[in-house]
Amino acid sequence: MRRQTRGRLPALLGAGVLLLAAGQALAQADVRRGEKLFVECKACHALGPTTDANALGPSLAGLFGRKAASVEDFRFSPAMRRSNLAWNRQTLDAFLADPQAFMPGNRMPYSGLADAKERADLIAYLSQATAAAK
Ligand code: HEC
Repeated sequence: MRRQTRGRLPALLGAGVLLLAAGQALAQADVRRGEKLFVECKACHALGPTTDANALGPSLAGLFGRKAASVEDFRFSPAMRRSNLAWNRQTLDAFLADPQAFMPGNRMPYSGLADAKERADLIAYLSQATAAAK
């Protein structure tokens, strides 16, 4: 009996370390996965300084810290213009989870990204890609 207990303790410690490592990996956003998720957004959003003439959505260059609907070469919906929002991790997370619930009447034809981890990855990618394009 005693020998068994002694043998189990290191095994339990080992499992604990593994769990900790897994938790850390989850907490860390995966920028490369975010880049893959951005493929969906890319159809409508450029990252360069000007909005693509044929694009359905505004350029996302310099997105973080920017006021919503402040891209001059794009005609935003009244809902977006009146939102009085600034884009940051929190507002982007809420908007991308369910655009219509978060901002009723906005004209972004996108139903939302339900998975919180995927949103974190996408936002991590956006924070790099939209800053680089400034
Ligand atoms: C089918 C086209 C389309 C897709 C796909 C799309 N968007 Fe949009 N997006 C728009 C349009 C149109 C607007 C402007 C909405 C308005 O004025 O109400 C917008 C607005 C935005 C804004 C606000 C911009 C600002 O300057 O205030 C952000 C941020 C945004 N989209 C991010 C994303 C992300 C991230 C994705 C991918 C998950 C995405 N969009 C997918 C068309 C799209």
